[in-house]
Amino acid sequence: MRDYVIECHNLETAYAASLNRPILNGINCQIERGEFVVLLGLNGAGKSTLLRSLVGLVPLVRGEIQINSVTLTPRTLAAIRRDVGMLFQGGGLIRQLSAMENVLCGRLGAKTSWQTLFGFPKRDRLLALELLEQLGLREFADQKTSQLSGGQQQRVAIARALIQSPQILLADEPITGLDVIACQQVMQTLSELHTQHGMTIVAVLHDLGIAAEYAQRAIVVDAGRIVYDGPCDNLQAQFSQV
Ligand SMILES: Nc1ncnc2c1ncn2[C@@H]1O[C@H](COP(=O)(O)OP(=O)(O)OP(=O)(O)O)[C@@H](O)[C@H]1O
Ligand SMILES: [Mg+2]
Repeated sequence: MRDYVIECHNLETAYAASLNRPILNGINCQIERGEFVVLLGLNGAGKSTLLRSLVGLVPLVRGEIQINSVTLTPRTLAAIRRDVGMLFQGGGLIRQLSAMENVLCGRLGAKTSWQTLFGFPKRDRLLALELLEQLGLREFADQKTSQLSGGQQQRVAIARALIQSPQILLADEPITGLDVIACQQVMQTLSELHTQHGMTIVAVLHDLGIAAEYAQRAIVVDAGRIVYDGPCDNLQAQFSQV
């Protein structure tokens, strides 16, 4: 039997401001443990909406999401979020906080509100430092993220997503706006998490060449529907602009 970690059944979602305008129109997909999948599509196709839906950030109008065979509901949401790390489009860092503090924010979901009153234990701080070290950012730990370059900020965002040791990483445009070197570093980091730690990765990319280099499978979204789900080979021939 296949070990699916993400399952979407007839997913239909709409934003609260416009509930009569569904953004995702009947998404069906299953992602197995340990897969590296790229999500492709034009601007506004619904890629970010799909990733956000998987962690309960967009209301479901119809359909069902299962993460590790658990149906996403208000009751299961907190536990599911502990298994799923999210790298938001644009990083989503708090600019006034240091790199270290931003990474520690990734632990907030694992704590009760009263626990957060006591600050973060030494164990969490050491883990945050270790992650920053691994991502080549140890020397920037105490620097405000507003003073870091785009590539450095992106790596802080990765560290923040990783501090909860997620089984699944959803990365929304992790390399957009980065130079060639930073782009390679970030993709290499994702690739190592996949190959060495068996992490399931779903990454939104816009570059078909990079998609084919790192991922085995591509899902192409257009106007809230999946229009392709298959191997990355020949993507270039099929979709010249995604
Ligand atoms: N918070 C929101 N409230 C209402 N509508 C939204 C919201 N966020 C996105 N949308 C709409 O949902 C649609 C899909 O947006 P989404 O951000 O998922 O696209 P995307 O595929 O990630 O595009 P991009 O490549 O530009 O990041 C768009 O029409 C957008 O206007
Ligand atoms: Mg997006």
